Amino acid sequence: MDIGTSRWLALIFVTLTLWGCGETGNSTNNLSDRVESSQALINPKQVGASDYGSQCLSCHGARGLGQEALQAPALTSLDPVYIGRQLRHFRDGVRGAHPEDTHGSIMAASSVGLSDSSIADLAGYIDALPNALPVATIKGDIAQGKDYHLNLCSACHGSNALGNVALEAPALAGLNDWYVLSQYEKFRGGLRGAHSEDRWGVQMVRLAPAITDTDILESIAAYLATLPPEA
Ligand code: HEC
Ligand code: HEC
Repeated sequence: MDIGTSRWLALIFVTLTLWGCGETGNSTNNLSDRVESSQALINPKQVGASDYGSQCLSCHGARGLGQEALQAPALTSLDPVYIGRQLRHFRDGVRGAHPEDTHGSIMAASSVGLSDSSIADLAGYIDALPNALPVATIKGDIAQGKDYHLNLCSACHGSNALGNVALEAPALAGLNDWYVLSQYEKFRGGLRGAHSEDRWGVQMVRLAPAITDTDILESIAAYLATLPPEA
């Protein structure tokens, strides 16, 4: 199949997928708006676009805002270096390989066969998607969450939770609150970050026992959900 044909097939796939695909965040329910916006976002000339449209969009959405029903998170606020590392980790069995990590293994299966160069293209493509603040789903004590964040998390993730490139600690602002919770619990339970090659995840594994109270974790997630991602 030549490149022109595969691009067209990718576009048709994207358009068809959008019919059945809801996004959290400020999605629009009008079908023609959604198809139009997907065509604006999935520009077939942009590197990484056809891979995203054919392999990622069905779960993470055309705008990269994720879908809670599938536990697929919003991606737009993440740094491309972090995205690239996660994709290689999923592909190489460093993340998502624990037998109890159901959603991690779904993502791992979705990254099988990605080459390093398509991972770089995908990370660049996702980085170029407009950032958005996901819809808050968790109620918690925002003041308490702020206090915990400033004392326990901000040294690595930044006071505004925009991440720290030098430490390769990702932005937490712009993540879905339910995803912050699920990942924290995975680090604490040894489902993520326990692989011997995961020297970034292990930092979270060491820290995670610091909070075992779900109410406190919910407060942190609720506070983070109020912080705007970097424009
Ligand atoms: C079948 C659904 C599905 C498909 C298709 C899929 N993902 Fe995922 N993705 C998920 C789920 C579920 C998670 C959360 C995994 C977890 O809980 O650890 C995830 C997590 C991720 C993460 C980690 C985000 C973070 O904050 O650490 C990245 C990056 C990602 N996906 C990118 C992609 C890209 C790029 C593609 C296309 C090549 C893709 N995904 C295809 C479901 C999917
Ligand atoms: C010592 C530094 C450090 C501290 C302190 C820290 N983190 Fe992290 N955190 C990291 C690093 C590094 C990663 C990236 C792990 C990876 O690459 O898989 C991470 C990842 C995460 C993730 C996964 C994000 C994603 O997109 O999947 C969450 C959620 C998280 N941290 C929450 C917290 C919270 C909440 C606190 C405070 C209670 C905290 N972290 C404190 C270093 C830290």
